[in-house]
Amino acid sequence: MATVRLHHVGKTYPNGQIALKDIDLSIPDGELMVVVGPSGCGKSTLLRVLAGLETITHGELWIDDKRANDLSPQQRNIAMVFQDYALYPTMSVRENLSFPLKMRKLSSAEIRHKVTWAADLLDLGEVLERLPRQLSGGQRQRVAMGRALVREPSVFLLDEPLSNLDTKLRAQVRTEIGDLQKRTGTTMIYVTHDQIEAMTLGHRITILDQGVIQQIATPEALYEHPASSWVAGFIGTPPMNLAEALMTVSPSHVEIIIGQETVATLSKENPPVFVKTALENGHSVLMGIRPEALLIATDHEPGFMATVTTIEYLGHETLVHLRPLGAPASMNWIIRAHGQSTLKVGSQIRLERLKEESLHFFRF
Ligand SMILES: Nc1ncnc2c1ncn2[C@@H]1O[C@H](COP(=O)(O)OP(=O)(O)OP(=O)(O)O)[C@@H](O)[C@H]1O
Ligand SMILES: [Mg+2]
Repeated sequence: MATVRLHHVGKTYPNGQIALKDIDLSIPDGELMVVVGPSGCGKSTLLRVLAGLETITHGELWIDDKRANDLSPQQRNIAMVFQDYALYPTMSVRENLSFPLKMRKLSSAEIRHKVTWAADLLDLGEVLERLPRQLSGGQRQRVAMGRALVREPSVFLLDEPLSNLDTKLRAQVRTEIGDLQKRTGTTMIYVTHDQIEAMTLGHRITILDQGVIQQIATPEALYEHPASSWVAGFIGTPPMNLAEALMTVSPSHVEIIIGQETVATLSKENPPVFVKTALENGHSVLMGIRPEALLIATDHEPGFMATVTTIEYLGHETLVHLRPLGAPASMNWIIRAHGQSTLKVGSQIRLERLKEESLHFFRF
């Protein structure tokens, strides 16, 4: 087990491509850190740098109290499971699991002991004598995990390990990986672009964009307090609704106006600094609200009108796209309606005034 610290780490590939910029990241012993971000943002590069498969261009990598910049992959005791976990096709599961131990010249008794341990842990006991092609996708994935685990790495890196599996198997193996990490307590860094994997597995989540860390936070904090509109738009399915909103001040409160509708009234106490600046200068702000915080109004509540623009029926819920009256045509908000909705495209509906505590404000 180990702590991992990156100190101002940058990676530029020989062709000039900058893949990581000034990464500062500290992962305590036993943490399951998830790394997410759009394609090409540097996730795999980050793992490869940690594993020693790529050199660091600048900055420092520390594993426990050892500077690891110049350590070979073998010296790091880090195991990595790749997206296309290549198993040796002509070797049985047992031989696949034994291979890294044979390379380390362990005795056959030790090898047998470790392979049995991994097979028990990953529920592979029944298939030890089979070849990879005689396994299901999930079983193959578990063999790849087992092959990494028998080495008893101090850090475990997983690069989108479930992307080859179907939805049902993904959910199952996802739970297994979470359990495995809990039982072994191994420091784990898990790359994914799947929101559910990130939210359910991560003790904390690091969000990367264009090689730069955008936010590091627990899943709850990331969802409740995104650091920027970019993060807000990246986390959540559907993502947070954003809109440019105008603020007007009355003696007692602040009104937030979108198009021709007053969508919220706020108390004047403790607004974020840039909201305050916007108020003083009569500027607009970038406002965000999660789909589940937008509610259709009942008759007696104060509300605002919006036009339904698209309906997406998903079975258990319907996503209703809408736009407050008078808002620019580019604006698209989404609300969730339980089950099937009777709303029609083009109709107007009334939404509840937005509650102050469910609003987010961002810099433009
Ligand atoms: N060997 C390489 N030489 C040059 N550029 C590279 C190399 N490997 C990756 N890159 C570039 O570095 C950037 C980061 O790549 P990386 O593979 O880390 O992204 P990623 O976040 O893992 O993306 P994905 O989600 O698609 O797997 C990309 O712009 C990519 O094209
Ligand atoms: Mg990748």
